[in-house]
Amino acid sequence: MSFPLRDTDLRHLWHPYTDATTFEREPYLCIDSAEGVYLFEDGGGELLDGISSWWCVSLGHGHPRIVEAIREQAGDLQHSILGNMSHPRAIQLAERLSQIAPGDLNRVYFASDGSSATEAALKMAVQYWRNVGQPERTRFVSLEQAYHGDTLGAMGAGFVEWFHEPFEHVVRPALRAPSPHYPGNDPEAEARHCDDAFAAMEQLLRAQAKEIAAVIIEPRVQGAAGIWIYPADYLRRLRALCDELDILIIADEIAVGFARTGKMFACETAGIVPDFLCLGKALTGGYLPMSATIARDKIYDAFRGEGDDKRVFWDGHTFCGNPITAAAAIAALDVFAELDLPASCAPHEARIADAFTAVGAMDSVAYQKTLGMIGMCAIREDAGGAPLAREITLAARERGLFLRPLGTSLYLWPPLTATTPELDRMLNIFHESIEACTPAAVAK
Ligand SMILES: Cc1ncc(COP(=O)(O)O)c(C=O)c1O
Repeated sequence: MSFPLRDTDLRHLWHPYTDATTFEREPYLCIDSAEGVYLFEDGGGELLDGISSWWCVSLGHGHPRIVEAIREQAGDLQHSILGNMSHPRAIQLAERLSQIAPGDLNRVYFASDGSSATEAALKMAVQYWRNVGQPERTRFVSLEQAYHGDTLGAMGAGFVEWFHEPFEHVVRPALRAPSPHYPGNDPEAEARHCDDAFAAMEQLLRAQAKEIAAVIIEPRVQGAAGIWIYPADYLRRLRALCDELDILIIADEIAVGFARTGKMFACETAGIVPDFLCLGKALTGGYLPMSATIARDKIYDAFRGEGDDKRVFWDGHTFCGNPITAAAAIAALDVFAELDLPASCAPHEARIADAFTAVGAMDSVAYQKTLGMIGMCAIREDAGGAPLAREITLAARERGLFLRPLGTSLYLWPPLTATTPELDRMLNIFHESIEACTPAAVAK
């Protein structure tokens, strides 16, 4: 697709996660406006947004309530400092978040985006141990192919080889445990795989507990790895083990927080309370960059200076807790409450589960998994793997659905506010596009 600003774009814009050479050669989308579940291209054309615009626009585009809150707040107060000062929107939002966060996650620290929220949690964990007299606890533990952001600290905590390999030697790597995600649909094999993955994690934690500051984990879904969904049981066992060994858990719910997994927070699907909960993306309905690291009371209390500056958390960002972004987040929380999310998603979740069961039976599909408002499938390597997954997303685009593949994984992550006909249309196009691209020679 061509659009009026394309030449200027190619001269001046450095696109994230984009290979300039292929980008310059190929047609690409330029989205000019959006409403509800629809993206409108510059120069015509409309697409259903099958991935909630990088997993954040959970309440649909152009929600009047959120747009109005932003407008109104911009006229009243657009910036104010939070260091040794406060403002009403940050206070109200902190209260609202601690009300909906599980357990005693009551202390809300605002950051700017997902990466700065996970960085804050990692730093808090290290300094917590220093403040309570165990400064030797400085290591992090994460899952293989975990993703916690692209800043240096976050890359070290996670590590998706595909994105982060050039920085391998400048980050401090976390200790890594195998992923509990099982790439298949056999429940017994999945349970065995989860047991094995947990046993490896347990061995690692028991051997090095005294050096470990925290385990950082994406609860229930390793997003960037390829939407790797895994069982709740793993989290329950991890919480029990970390309690026994006195190790902190950082739950990175930047992607899966806010009603995506069938509960408001993915940790709740396992009934666990982490020591830190990192939120971003859908926090403002996906309208403005904002994130939060929510800590349990005991963590916060360990940072009271009591005359000693060195106990204080010296970290902060110019725009943390910004009044406009906070107003957008408060409006988004109002919409979540009014629409009774996630409870009201239950019928949609069932439709996604049914549709992906059918997808899983297709010849070119290796396996499928669903959780709440997420459906994923993996394209068989011997059917075409990642190149075929890319081809399928282009076929979906021609049929009116916007998707982005992650290696061999294809997934649907629709706005929670999609109507039943809109969701059904997405599911139908998803299925049809795989069918249309499956080579005739492929048989399971
Ligand atoms: C689990 C997780 N953590 C952290 C991040 C980083 O968030 P941001 O891109 O806002 O820095 C992401 C982004 O996709 C994510 O999925």
